[in-house]
Amino acid sequence: MSDHSSSGNRPLIPGQVAVWLGAVSLLAAGLIVTGYSYLALRQGPNEDAARRQAQKELRAENAKKAQALLTEPARNADGTFRIPLKDAVALVAQDPKVVAKLQAAAGPAPAPAAAPAAPAAAAGAFVKADPEQMKRGAAVYARTCIACHQPTGLGLPPVFPPLANAPIVVGNPELPVKFILQGLMGPITVNGMTYNSMMPPVAGVSDADIADVLTYVRQSFGNQGNPVTADQVKAIRAANAGRTAPWTTAELGLK
Ligand code: HEC
Repeated sequence: MSDHSSSGNRPLIPGQVAVWLGAVSLLAAGLIVTGYSYLALRQGPNEDAARRQAQKELRAENAKKAQALLTEPARNADGTFRIPLKDAVALVAQDPKVVAKLQAAAGPAPAPAAAPAAPAAAAGAFVKADPEQMKRGAAVYARTCIACHQPTGLGLPPVFPPLANAPIVVGNPELPVKFILQGLMGPITVNGMTYNSMMPPVAGVSDADIADVLTYVRQSFGNQGNPVTADQVKAIRAANAGRTAPWTTAELGLK
């Protein structure tokens, strides 16, 4: 009994402490959970709303640019289009029909010239590329050219010229290698339509990558040009090693 009474006296304090501790930690946990979920609930929709608002503004901005270009196309003095590439890509993403609308604004395209009778083949026997090189070239094309010159090789007239039925593509590889390494700007007429935009240098491509991609475009889209080797590219790269400025069509005698 004395055991009982003394134990009845003693646990009173630890019991109280335990109750207090329990209450305090419950309260703290409750506060943390409530506070956290309040913040999470408050911040989530806020960030989403900000993101949605930014996207909406970007879309509106692109729509405005598209409209400006369609009603009053950005033109060079010679009447050709000069749309910054960034805008062109944004415009195409914004409105897939924008190219057709730009073409309509540009007026009827002159009838394309008849397909050249495989100039490279005329210079010598046509050599069919190794299928492995074509496969590698297709991969480089998909990584480095496709956004502008398109999967069809038809480009996006009047902004990006076609690689199909384009004499430069099947001619001496020196020109396309130079364009890939340093870029190209200035008026150039391909397939009856004049372009005056800029091709930026293509970054991060080895001599072998360039040989593969050029071989691929020279034997795709109806083109018939002989394969290009990494050694050819290497020599052209070495001959223009100090050059950083984009090539101009004027200095290359291109029209
Ligand atoms: C960012 C867009 C862009 C990319 C990427 C690009 N080009 Fe071009 N390319 C152009 C533009 C624009 C022109 C025309 C430049 C001018 O108006 O002077 C052009 C011109 C050319 C021409 C000469 C014109 C013609 O059609 O024959 C060749 C050849 C060519 N590019 C090949 C390539 C190859 C190969 C790649 C990939 C390795 C590539 N380009 C990547 C935009 C691009």
